[in-house]
Amino acid sequence: MPVGIDDMAIYVPKLYIDYKDFAEARGIDPQKLEYGIGIKKMALADANQDPASMAANACMRLMKNNDLHPQDIGRIYVATESGLDESKAMNSFVIGMLEQVYGESTLEHAGGIECKFACVSGSYALYDNTNWIRAGESNDKAAIVIVSDIAKYDLGSAGEYTQGAGAVALLIKENPRLVAFDERVTSTIIKNEYDFYRPFGKETPLVNGLYSNLLYLIQVRKALETYKEKALKAGIIVLRDDESVTDHIDYISVHLPYRRMGEKALAYLLRHEWRHLPRWKKITEEIGMDEPVPKDPRGTIESILADVEFMKADEKFRRAFMITKYYQDVFDKKMASSLQASAVIGNLYTASMYMGLRSLLEFEYLKNIDLYGKRIGFGSYGSGCSAMVFSGVIQEKYKELVSRMNLDRDIGPRTKISIEDYEKLHKNTRKYNEAFLDAEDEFILVNIGGKTADRAGFREYCYAG
Ligand code: CAA
Repeated sequence: MPVGIDDMAIYVPKLYIDYKDFAEARGIDPQKLEYGIGIKKMALADANQDPASMAANACMRLMKNNDLHPQDIGRIYVATESGLDESKAMNSFVIGMLEQVYGESTLEHAGGIECKFACVSGSYALYDNTNWIRAGESNDKAAIVIVSDIAKYDLGSAGEYTQGAGAVALLIKENPRLVAFDERVTSTIIKNEYDFYRPFGKETPLVNGLYSNLLYLIQVRKALETYKEKALKAGIIVLRDDESVTDHIDYISVHLPYRRMGEKALAYLLRHEWRHLPRWKKITEEIGMDEPVPKDPRGTIESILADVEFMKADEKFRRAFMITKYYQDVFDKKMASSLQASAVIGNLYTASMYMGLRSLLEFEYLKNIDLYGKRIGFGSYGSGCSAMVFSGVIQEKYKELVSRMNLDRDIGPRTKISIEDYEKLHKNTRKYNEAFLDAEDEFILVNIGGKTADRAGFREYCYAG
């Protein structure tokens, strides 16, 4: 019995900052943000929102849209890297919020945990819940995996223009209507790294930006190697001499810290997959230069980044490759639609690849393409670090769901705020009772802590109808 994503729902906070305002305030060329990063609007959580309330809002929408009741659900997992408590799991807050609407203890029978591994943990949560159902443990109940994050970097840092906020809730079931995951192909890679991390008590991460970019690419590529071996063994892909695995994957959805990273990841993976194929000669002819090789091809990431001559030549080659018709053709057909949401929302950490999936489905559907049977390859990455590559096939009933997707409507009317107000939110100078917007049909944070020490850190939420 196939298992996979039956439906998905999103929640994006309605406040945003515009890239032009941001560029002006920070003295950056707006073209860098629009094209170099690929961001136009960055979603911001209001003072009365946090990753738990966003997760509960996405989950509630998923339940309402599918007429799901608590007894239909066996597990609720929340994957996040914006944890609110070192011990209490975020899904317990979410259950508390849902039970305000569905009734006390209505979700008592369900299980679940908060999962953490930077941006990749949602993919682990999906995999584990898929296997829970495959193993026959679900007692005919569905699992819900929610990915929810606030991407927040230091003011004035290079990471600041890769912020965003939002949540995606995914309904995992047998015979899914959207995407059934391929079996025996999921591949992971793991390593102890410090590319991006957030020590206890710190609200913003410490980031080695360029290192994290290269590490992301290398780790996803390594996971793809194992995926390829498994996919060939499982027989879901059969390769002829002049073919690469990417020729057999109809859509490619990757982790999107920012839009441009998706484009760069595709270039990196295609170069890796194609450089040994006959087509590579024609591609390098079109580019007009050979692919550069580092002085020490087996060196460390540090040694490659320090190889200035190679890095310069490689950047030149990559840019030229990205405007070849070979790259452009794959990009337009297999990736472009998945990047649209990222440009108007920003980084969602755990949720970014799943917002990308949602974007892919909606905008490919609008091209009048028959998506039934198309295979999507996923390249998930989490700093620290781990990558997961897996795939799934779009199911026959996708239309009944995808035809209803509408990103603008689902985000709702948005409010642009000034850079001054954004900075107030960033510095947490506005309290939960000083939100910019009035809440409507959503969960909000209404209290943190209490008058007595035994209620320190208590977070209270309510449903604002
Ligand atoms: N017009 C157009 N483009 C311009 C430009 C201009 N005037 N000026 C610069 N650019 C382009 C650059 O050429 C570059 O393009 P390419 O990537 O194609 O080379 C792009 O804008 C970015 O500019 P820089 O290379 O100068 O990079 P930066 O100093 O702005 O930093 C960043 C970019 C490293 C991503 C930084 O924003 C950062 O540290 N972000 C947080 C970390 C991150 O997102 N890492 C990604 C991998 S780790 C991960 O994925 C986990 C996660 O979610 C965090």
